[in-house]
Amino acid sequence: MLDSSKKIKEIEEQFSDELAKKLELEYKANDNLPITRDIFIRCAIDSLGDVRGKFLLDLGCGIGEISYFLAKKGSAVVGIDISRGMLNLSSKRIRDNKFEEKANFLKMTTEKVGFKDNSFDAVFGGYILHHTEVELTIKEVYRVLKKGGKATFVENFANNKILIFSRRYLAGRFGIPRYGTITEHPLTNKDIKIIKSLFKKVKIINPDMNFLQLLDRQIFKYRYPFISRFCEYFDRWLFYAFPELRKLSYTQVIVVEK
Ligand SMILES: C[S@@+](CC[C@H](N)C(=O)[O-])C[C@H]1O[C@@H](n2cnc3c(N)ncnc32)[C@H](O)[C@@H]1O
Repeated sequence: MLDSSKKIKEIEEQFSDELAKKLELEYKANDNLPITRDIFIRCAIDSLGDVRGKFLLDLGCGIGEISYFLAKKGSAVVGIDISRGMLNLSSKRIRDNKFEEKANFLKMTTEKVGFKDNSFDAVFGGYILHHTEVELTIKEVYRVLKKGGKATFVENFANNKILIFSRRYLAGRFGIPRYGTITEHPLTNKDIKIIKSLFKKVKIINPDMNFLQLLDRQIFKYRYPFISRFCEYFDRWLFYAFPELRKLSYTQVIVVEK
């Protein structure tokens, strides 16, 4: 158990350090953050309400776009990540925008957060839980969050059997790319049960449907505009025509309150 846990972290760290080298080449310090065009991220940020004057933890902060966005909104942010390369990019963004007083970045794992109990007003996790040992991470989030504080996560879910089949049997074969690490796993019912067993309030929000668009990305790589448009319209139709199917979206937002 200990070994597999160590191995997962090594794989995650190595993968992110390599990715950070590539992302450094595309780095732009300016305000035009692509992340805020992601409807799921925007929904998760909105779910935290007014963050002005709040002390916030950005779990698995990556290249620091969300940390910077939250700092600009008036909160004091600590971003943690397992990858030194990612943390360097986050720090650079904050330095270049002269926001050093509002955000700090530390190398830590989400499974062992080096802060005291009840330290943070809110916790943000963008596409992070599914990279980690969910139970350990969630327990840490609960521990460091103040009573009444909110945590919000943008996550990949395993509810959609077609997507899970494609992920298991097609990704990485037949010229279909596999993004991300081999150790990550979309959240299962078991993971959601763990979250519900700890937090008094748990809400899952579906601001959009991410189904055929994901297959378009993986299989057609957005090469055919008419296919992309069809997938977009199909997902939108599904979203509005069958609200009960929204839980089949690959991406969803979880909001919890301690
Ligand atoms: C998919 S990226 C998300 C980055 C950022 N939150 C965003 O939404 O743009 C996942 C990040 O989590 C980090 N990570 C993976 N496992 C981790 C762990 N156990 N503890 C801390 N960070 C971890 C990776 O290094 C990577 O930067």
